[in-house]
Amino acid sequence: MPGLLSSPVCLTVIWFLSWSLRPSCAQILTDEVSGVQYGHLESNVTLACGKSQIRIPVVWHLNHSSVLPWHKVTSDGSLVLMHVDHSAQGIYSCYDNQGLLLHSVKLRLGHPPGLLSVSCQVPNHTYVRCSWVESVATFLPAQYNASFRGSGQEWRPCVVDIVRKHCDVDRPAFWQTIHTLRITATNALGSETTYARFKLHELLKPDPPESVLVNELEGFPKRLIVSWTFPASWPLHDAFPLVFQIRYRPLGSMYWSEIYSEESPVVIFDALAGHLHQVQIRARDEVNAESQWSEWSPLLLARPWEVFTTPYPTEEVPPELFFPINTKPETSTAKSHNPVLEDEGSLGLVILLVLFSVVILITVLSLIYVMWVRQRRRDHVTKQELTSMVKMKSMPI
Ligand SMILES: *[C@@H]1O[C@H](CO)[C@@H](O)[C@H](O)[C@H]1NC(C)=O
Ligand SMILES: *[C@@H]1O[C@H](CO)[C@@H](O)[C@H](O)[C@H]1NC(C)=O
Ligand SMILES: *[C@@H]1O[C@H](CO)[C@@H](O)[C@H](O)[C@H]1NC(C)=O
Ligand SMILES: *[C@@H]1O[C@H](CO)[C@@H](O)[C@H](O)[C@H]1NC(C)=O
Repeated sequence: MPGLLSSPVCLTVIWFLSWSLRPSCAQILTDEVSGVQYGHLESNVTLACGKSQIRIPVVWHLNHSSVLPWHKVTSDGSLVLMHVDHSAQGIYSCYDNQGLLLHSVKLRLGHPPGLLSVSCQVPNHTYVRCSWVESVATFLPAQYNASFRGSGQEWRPCVVDIVRKHCDVDRPAFWQTIHTLRITATNALGSETTYARFKLHELLKPDPPESVLVNELEGFPKRLIVSWTFPASWPLHDAFPLVFQIRYRPLGSMYWSEIYSEESPVVIFDALAGHLHQVQIRARDEVNAESQWSEWSPLLLARPWEVFTTPYPTEEVPPELFFPINTKPETSTAKSHNPVLEDEGSLGLVILLVLFSVVILITVLSLIYVMWVRQRRRDHVTKQELTSMVKMKSMPI
């Protein structure tokens, strides 16, 4: 390694690097006000060539190039950039006529903040998270200051996560009907305060139920058992009951059947024997009728228990399939289709498919046979040729 470092190539590279880095180092060292100037996009921006009296004429450079956007230089040496757009950003330097650097400044362009569009999530009674997006693109970094209060109460801080653009309130006064969030966005060009009003009890929306499982019940070809746990963010307390809605349908059907329950597990009594079912569950605060349902849990697939010796379980149709019996009082059955008709349709389709595949199989098999026969003949011929060649070689010349 030391040999490599002292090699001429390496020395040249180091010399070149230090030479090429030198101007920027020099510039930083000689910078009087080395700083950032912010300007409004689509306006005229004036850059002064330092504070002191300037010997005229001065020369302006952008990023060490003499190519400048649309501009004029005033009598005191200031640079006025007209109707700037993003391409005017960069490092501006002014030099006197001997080429001596007088001043340099970085120009950043953008807009002052506008109103924010705010939304709040309330996954339980002790927590509010409000997120926001800017209604105008400012192109500049912003600071946010947020506070929260119930009507007639003191402002309390809403703890800001500046990167994810949200803030959290711990233990809001849930009994107050109306709450206000106040967020002030501030950037280098200005600030704007947004007020947003909410009814927390209407925003209350639990997270979806967790650990959802759907299983068959052995010996019952038309039953499924669904179990779940409360969302982890919901307090396990008698004071905060949840009601759960379970929906299910045979795979491929358009119509859901529904069951409501306060407790896990729940048994589905009218599953379609031998069919895969889709099952989902969601939750809502049971006391507060104005609150929102959670999102649905991910779709789960399950098939009721089957006797595997029964080859066609769909041929015998139990009469209750025509008149679904609500085994639970809360069950609201939205099924209006006739699953048996669908089954006959699909049986015909299956037969067609089987016939079709048999035809294809026969075609492929005969093709393979023809090719095999031809190949064998060819092999036979080559073998004969080979043996005659071997014979010829072994013949003494
Ligand atoms: C920018 O300067 C030009 C030329 O002096 C002038 O016509 C224009 O009105 C100015 N624009 C603004 C927004 O001041
Ligand atoms: C000047 O350099 C900055 C980076 O410092 C770059 O964003 C900008 O586009 C450059 N401007 C021009 C006109 O090359
Ligand atoms: C943020 O708001 C709080 C309370 O309203 C105030 O005391 C604080 O000075 C503000 N901070 C900034 C940076 O505006
Ligand atoms: C309420 O939800 C938040 C966010 O998910 C969670 O951090 C907090 O522990 C929950 N509160 C209770 C009492 O479960």
